[in-house]
Amino acid sequence: MFQNIRYRLLLSYLLIFASILSVFSLGVRLFFAHSLKQQIIDKLIVLGQSVIASAEWENNQLKIDSDFRVEALLNHHQSLQWFNLQGKILYQQGKIMTNLPFSQDNIRQIQEGKSKIQTVTLPIIDSDNGKLIGYLRVSQSLAELDEILEKLDWGLGIGIVVALVFSGVGGILLTNQAMIPIEDSFQRLKQFTADASHEFRSPLMAIQSNVSVSLKYSEGMRETDQESFKAIASATYQLTHLTEDLLLLARSEKNNLSSQEEVNLNTVMEELGILYQCQCASKNIKLTIVLNELLLIIGDRVQLSRLFSNLIENALHYTSEGGLIKIKGKRKGSLIEIQIQDTGVGIESQYLGQIFERFWRADTSRSYWHGGCGLGLSIVKAITENHGGTSTVISQLGIGSCFTVCLPMNLSSNH
Ligand SMILES: Nc1ncnc2c1ncn2[C@@H]1O[C@H](COP(=O)(O)OP(=O)(O)OP(=O)(O)O)[C@@H](O)[C@H]1O
Ligand SMILES: [Mg+2]
Repeated sequence: MFQNIRYRLLLSYLLIFASILSVFSLGVRLFFAHSLKQQIIDKLIVLGQSVIASAEWENNQLKIDSDFRVEALLNHHQSLQWFNLQGKILYQQGKIMTNLPFSQDNIRQIQEGKSKIQTVTLPIIDSDNGKLIGYLRVSQSLAELDEILEKLDWGLGIGIVVALVFSGVGGILLTNQAMIPIEDSFQRLKQFTADASHEFRSPLMAIQSNVSVSLKYSEGMRETDQESFKAIASATYQLTHLTEDLLLLARSEKNNLSSQEEVNLNTVMEELGILYQCQCASKNIKLTIVLNELLLIIGDRVQLSRLFSNLIENALHYTSEGGLIKIKGKRKGSLIEIQIQDTGVGIESQYLGQIFERFWRADTSRSYWHGGCGLGLSIVKAITENHGGTSTVISQLGIGSCFTVCLPMNLSSNH
C-alpha cells in the first residue's frame, strides 16, 4: 500500500517538475530564437543603409557608384538586389539569391527549398531632391541561426533529462523521508485497533455467556424480558463478529502468516460445502463444487478457509431463493484459480472498484442484510495478498457475480 503511495507521489512530483522544466525551456528557446533573429534583421538594415549611400540618380536611372566595392561588405550568407520603382531587378550581388518577386513588405522570412531566408527591403531616396528612386533588398540565409537553435534544443533536451534524473533520485529520498511519519502513525493506528479489538473480546464473551445462561433458564421470566435478552444476544454476536474481523484485519500483514503448511484446497472446499449445505437447502439454492484436479497450496489453512467461507457466505446472502452457486477450481501454470459464481443480486459496475474497501456495502444489498458490516471482502483481499495472490470480481446487476481468487501454489516463490 505504502509502496503505491510512494510511486504516485514520486510520479506526480516528476510530472510537475518536468512540466515546469518544459515551460521554462520553451520560454528560453522562444526568447533566444526571437533575439537572434532580431539581431540578424538589425544587421541587414545597417548593411542596407550603408549600401544605399552608394546609389544615385543619373539620367533618369538608378546608378551605383563604380568605386564602391559592395562584395567587401557581404559575407557568403548574404546577398543584395536593387530594384527600380516598377519592381524590375537592376543589379544583384552575393551568393544567396532569392527568386522571390519584388514586394514592398520591408521585413519577410521566406522558405526556399530546404533553407530559410530573411529579407529586408529598404527604399532608396535620392539625397539631392529627396525623391524615391528605387529599392534595395538585403537577404541572408538563416542556416546558421537554425544550427545555433538546433544546438540549443539539444542542450535544453539533455539538460531536462539530466535534471529529471537528479530530481528523481532526490524525489526518492524525499518521499522516503515523507513516508516515515505516515507509516509510523498508520502502524500505531493498526496497533490501537488490534489492542482495542483484543480488549473488547473478554467483556463481550462475559456478556454473551451471561445472556445465554439467562436465556437457558428463562422459566418464570417475563416474555418482554426474554425478547430483550434475545436482542442483547444478537447484538453481542454481531459485535463479537465485528471485533474478530477488525482484529484479523489489524493483524494481517503482507507476508505474515501464522502458519505455513501444505493445504489441500479440495478438502477445504468439501468441508465448506458440507458446512453450508443446510443454509443452501433452506434457501433452495443449488451449490455445486467442481474441482477436477488436486489443488495443493502452501499457506495458512485457517486463513484460506476463512477466505472462501466469506465468499460463499456472500454468494448465499446476496442470492435469492432458487438460485445457483457454482464453485470451480483449476490449476493455471504456477497458480491455482478458484471461482465462486452466483446468480444473485449482482453489483453495479460503478461500485466494483470499491467493494474490497473496509465497511463498504452496496445499497442493493440492504434488503439482503444479514447483520454484516462490510468487512468480509476486505478480509478476502487481505488473506489473498498475505498469500501473494489476487482477488477480482466481475458482476452484472440482477444477473449475478463471479469472484476469482488466484493463489500461487508455492508461497516462497512469491515472497
Ligand atoms: N456475491 C455478491 N453478490 C452481490 N453483492 C455482493 C456479493 N458479495 C459482496 N457483495 C456486495 O459487496 C458488499 C461488501 O461485501 P462484504 O462481504 O465485504 O460485506 P458484507 O457481506 O456486507 O458484510 P460482512 O461480510 O462483513 O458480514 C456487500 O454489502 C454487497 O453489497
Ligand atoms: Mg460478506
